[in-house]
Amino acid sequence: MHPPGTPASEATTGDCANCTLHDRRGFLREAAAATVAALGAVGVHPTIAGALPVRWVSALARVGAGPTYPVPATDGVQIDRDNQVILVRWQNTVYAFNLSCPHQNTALRWDEADARFQCPKHHSKYQPDGTFISGRATRNMDRLSVRRDADTIVVDVDAMYKSNEDQAAWAAAIVRL
Ligand code: FES
Repeated sequence: MHPPGTPASEATTGDCANCTLHDRRGFLREAAAATVAALGAVGVHPTIAGALPVRWVSALARVGAGPTYPVPATDGVQIDRDNQVILVRWQNTVYAFNLSCPHQNTALRWDEADARFQCPKHHSKYQPDGTFISGRATRNMDRLSVRRDADTIVVDVDAMYKSNEDQAAWAAAIVRL
């Protein structure tokens, strides 16, 4: 008796006479591919599967319209509530975001376990670079202008870019380390 749904031609003996033999390297390659596929299936990008730590910070100083922060030494999320700024270092790139969700201005939260931003009001989700994943919002997180000045990151809170209005400016609002 073969398992339901198994073609009789494949289940006559229960042995593996027709199976492809795999060497160890091939097995490991397939196992890795299966893991990536599984992560993709649940919406987790394989490169962000490791959690990014979050911490609450204050600006070092203010330069014109811009709070300044030390260049983050490692990947992670920093939230400056006083200035309503989220600073992210992810994969050697620094981003600054408006703290408010672009849907209805609720303060966003960082979900450390899933390595993404989540809005507590209607549950929109965003990747660490602000890219919209799902939910009621209709655009990415709003980026703020950033530039590097020696060992500091200078954010201009008066220069905010919305991805649905100026995609090119939104994409360019980064600092590569
Ligand atoms: S306010 Fe954030 S999804 Fe609605």
